[in-house]
Parts: sequence; C-alpha cells; structure tokens
Amino acid sequence: MYRSHILVCGGTGCTSSGSERIITAFEKELAATGLTQEVKVIKTGCFGLCALGPVVVVYPEGAFYSQVKPEDIPEIVEEHLIKGRIVKRLLYSETVEDNAVKSLNETDFYKKQVRVALRNCGVINPEDINEYIAYDGYMALGKVLTEMTPEQVIQTILDSGLRGRGGGGFPTGRKWSFAAAQPKGQKYVCCNADEGDPGAFMDRSVLEGDPHVVIEAMAIAGYAIGASQGYIYVRAEYPIAVKRLQIAIGQAREMGLLGKDILGTGFDFDLDIRLGAGAFVCGEETALMTSIEGHRGEPRPRPPFPAVKGLFGKPTVLNNVETYANIPRIILNGADWFRSMGTEKSKGTKVFALGGKIHNTGLV
Ligand SMILES: Cc1cc2nc3c(=O)[nH]c(=O)nc-3n(C[C@H](O)[C@H](O)[C@H](O)COP(=O)(O)O)c2cc1C
Ligand code: FES
Repeated sequence: MYRSHILVCGGTGCTSSGSERIITAFEKELAATGLTQEVKVIKTGCFGLCALGPVVVVYPEGAFYSQVKPEDIPEIVEEHLIKGRIVKRLLYSETVEDNAVKSLNETDFYKKQVRVALRNCGVINPEDINEYIAYDGYMALGKVLTEMTPEQVIQTILDSGLRGRGGGGFPTGRKWSFAAAQPKGQKYVCCNADEGDPGAFMDRSVLEGDPHVVIEAMAIAGYAIGASQGYIYVRAEYPIAVKRLQIAIGQAREMGLLGKDILGTGFDFDLDIRLGAGAFVCGEETALMTSIEGHRGEPRPRPPFPAVKGLFGKPTVLNNVETYANIPRIILNGADWFRSMGTEKSKGTKVFALGGKIHNTGLV
C-alpha cells in the first residue's frame, strides 16, 4: 500500500517538454529520502492540458502541478510528501485563485467536460493491463462473450447512435451489420490510427493513454461480425503510441484476452500492428487497406465497400480509434446512456484537439 501516488504525464506533449526527466528526478529523490515504499510514481497518458506540461498530479490531495522542472522535485518531495504542505507556487494557477486546492475535475478546464473516449487518459498507467482492468477494463468483452449474441451487440451499437469519429460520420452499428451479414468465413477488423489531419492528436492520445480500450473494442467488433483477426494501422511518427500498443497487445495475449478461446468461450481473436509511413492518403480506408496488403497506398473505387470486399478482398469493419474508444462504455452503460449525450443526429461526446492562439492548447 502506498500513501501517495504521483502521476506524471507521459503523453507526447509532456514527453517533449521533459516529463521523463521529471520521473527520473522523482525516483532519485524518493530513493534518497527513503520514500520508495510509501510513494509510487506512475507514468500516465495525456491529461488534456498539454500547453502546461510537464503535468504532475499528486494524490490523495489531487494537487495539480504544471510546468514542473527537475529542479522543483526536491521541493515537492520535501514540502508536499514529507511535510504535507502543497507547493502553491507550482499549482496550475486556476487552482489557487481562492487559496483552496481544487481537484482536477473542479477546474474550469475540466468541469464541463464529460470524458468518455478519454476517460482513462491521465488516470491509469497505460503499460499495466491491471490498471485498465481495475477500471472495468475487458468487462465489456466478457459481457458480450458470455451474455450477448452478436446481433444484440450490433443492435446496442445501432441504438446508441454512435457515428464514426474518423470524419465520414457513418453510423457504426450499420457498418458492423453489413459486415456481419456477409457469409461466414475470413473477415477482418481494422483500426484507422493514421490521423493525418494537421493539428489533430485525439487518436494518438487515446492510444498513448489507454491502448487496451482499442484492443477490447476491436475484439468486440470481431465477435459482432465473426472475425478472428484485426489490424491496427498506426503512423510510424507515433512511436510512443506504437510502443504502448505493442506492450498492451503482449499483455492481453498473456492474460488470454487475445488469441485462442478467449475467456474460455471458444472465441478466437488476435491483433497485429501495421505501421504507416505518413502518407495523408493512407488515412482513407481503401488506401489504408491497400497499404496493409503491402502495396502502394492508393484508394480503390467504392463500391464494393469494405464491409463486403475489404482487406485482402474479405469483409472488413474499419473504424477510427476514437470510435472504438466509445464501444466498451456503450456496452457496459447501455445505448440510452450514450444517446443521452450529444446532438440530435450525432450521439455521445466528441474529442477535440485545440491549437492556435488560445489560452489552453490541448485536448477536450
Ligand atoms: C483523404 C482522406 C483521409 C482520411 N484520413 C483519415 C484518418 O487519418 N483517420 C481516420 O480515422 N479516418 C480518415 N479518413 C476517413 C476514413 O476513410 C474512414 O471513413 C474512417 O476511418 C472510418 O472510420 P469511422 O467510421 O470510425 O469514422 C480519411 C478519408 C479521406 C478521404
Ligand atoms: S501530453 Fe501531457 S497533458 Fe497532454
């Protein structure tokens, strides 16, 4: 049991502003003060306030320190962790306005946000499957495999009103139903993690902060349409996302959550990663599949649509990272819960990457 947890953002933004050095400095200082058995340092994914990185949150108080430098670490350890006095000069300015330390969720930046796709980002260690499981991870996969038919899964996604987050906005449940209706045989599930739009980093943050949610959702899609193999196409310029995905896939396989006879239900599903070389056009679904097949990434005419003739000519469901990140919560909380948010024609929440001449660049 640890009495304190130090969460240090390990997203790309904070890594660029030096969060690895912060982690090293904490580890050194905790060792020097004999606190390694009492205080645990955890590297998370993006918190959202990337402009203020490196971001550090110390629990149980939830003190939100921003723009932390390695030289600040001895003071945080001495004052906060040993003497119990929060280091006010390092707090995110909004949290000290009224001299009271607010938790992250009480700040203006976070309090109007409902984080569905990002719910675990900045909360868990993405390199530890146990932390994902502790936050209900793989429970939705367990539920669909043991309590739901593929038709019921598709109906739930249809009822939820979820539409693709990759740009086209096609109803996800309809896409799944087309692929499910194809004759039994080899089918595929693909994830579009190419994210070519300039300034966009929603998908990267999900993969860096919560890679298991995409793995779990793809396995659910596999069950729904009758596919046993999936591919995640991720751009090679996202090295942290690729590394965390590799770790996550390895851990899921080790726990029997990918591979043969998942959870003893007879369902087989496995995943592989394919790296994109950064061609914008490869974000288009047919070009992406052509690229996975090992050819130059050129689009092919539709119809036939991927649900009928997709990867290697087989029926394929292809969704965006953020689309998948919503799936396990929809299964666990129900379609009505998801429908209760959003607009008339598009339900749920949407992640936005904020950039430009604004106060808080980052993710909401
Ligand atoms: C030129 C072009 C680039 C695209 N780039 C992306 C991309 O980077 N990521 C993405 O998810 N979808 C991209 N799309 C949309 C995909 O073709 C596809 O509609 C989407 O990935 C389907 O997933 P969804 O239904 O979950 O949104 C692009 C489309 C076009 C025409
Ligand atoms: S990368 Fe650290 S807050 Fe976004």
